[in-house]
Amino acid sequence: KQGVRGRSLQVRADAGASGPKSGQSTFKVAVLGAAGGIGQPLSLLIKMSPLISELRLYDIANVKGVAADLSHCNTPAQVSAYTGASELAAALKDVDLVIIPAGVPRKPGMTRDDLFNINAGIVRTLIEGVADHCPNALINIISNPVNSTVPIAAEVLKAKGVYDPKKLFGVTTLDVVRANTFVAQKKGLRLIDVNVPVIGGHAGVTILPLLSKTKPTVEFTPEEVEELTVRIQNAGTEVVEAKAGAGSATLSMAYAAARFAESCMRGLDGDSDVYECAYVQSEVTDLPFFATTVKLGKKGVEEIVAEDLEGLTEYEKKAVDALKSELKGSIEKGVTFAKKQA
Ligand code: NAD
Ligand code: LMR
Repeated sequence: KQGVRGRSLQVRADAGASGPKSGQSTFKVAVLGAAGGIGQPLSLLIKMSPLISELRLYDIANVKGVAADLSHCNTPAQVSAYTGASELAAALKDVDLVIIPAGVPRKPGMTRDDLFNINAGIVRTLIEGVADHCPNALINIISNPVNSTVPIAAEVLKAKGVYDPKKLFGVTTLDVVRANTFVAQKKGLRLIDVNVPVIGGHAGVTILPLLSKTKPTVEFTPEEVEELTVRIQNAGTEVVEAKAGAGSATLSMAYAAARFAESCMRGLDGDSDVYECAYVQSEVTDLPFFATTVKLGKKGVEEIVAEDLEGLTEYEKKAVDALKSELKGSIEKGVTFAKKQA
């Protein structure tokens, strides 16, 4: 099951002339929130993918210029711009993959949950559009708090009668990207070789790197486990503080989201060996949503890798138990919000 797990983003820009390597398909992709701090570099990175035929950029403002700018890159994806609610339907019509980085980011002193009041409504409205105009698309949710926005999306899709749990993902790739970087630095490993699964959710202690499952196998002292775990859990806050009021991670997030989108499309394209960690509907714990490694295939989640939760260290077992109550609360908050509005 090693496959392409933990692979860095390798956009096949050189494949522009020859087309996709593994299959014949190309995909229509919509980015909602495309003019934002994440949306712009994310759109640039995925514009380089030979797996994309159409790249639709949607935002409530400023997206025309972004699309005009990107459209001059000589890579195959055709870029188009859609502004405001009246153009959401056209942006979404029949797309294969929807990526959602729309919403407000944190400022110093805030938790991700502090974004709930604004972002919950944004995600709800955008997912209603997805349900109406591209109900078969894979959905990658980046907007925080991911632990709640994914359950909101699930409820909206259920209410519209189009929920397919295999197609809804909370993007937690940035946690894996960070874990790989920090572990490689700490242990002097070649970055390209390192993969650390990260499970649970995407906020504070709900982010749980499984350092004992690092590939290649590497020994950590208890102090190193504690230090690395806490750094990975607080890495978002590290960036928020460094940006000092100007937002949260955008460039590393764009990189991570582009990697996850490329993996989703490679799965759709029939590549048989694509694994990523993601926050999905899952039965690996008693919670309805949980991030683990998943296998991506032609219909989205092909398999949830339950082995992630086997053979954990005592430290990791305790951390799983400890994260559940916060994650449960965030899931319930999302579900309650969505049901109240229905
Ligand atoms: P940003 O403010 O720079 O960009 C957000 C964009 O969303 C803006 O262009 C804005 O116009 C747009 N937007 C707002 N309401 C919209 C709507 N109703 N429809 C369409 N677009 C709308 O913020 P950012 O730095 O790009 O962050 C976006 C979100 O991503 C935040 O919620 C942030 O917390 C989250 N985030 C998640 C992760 C993760 O790992 N999942 C990592 C980083 C940031
Ligand atoms: C991150 O992990 O960088 C994002 O969730 C943004 C944030 O608020 O920390």
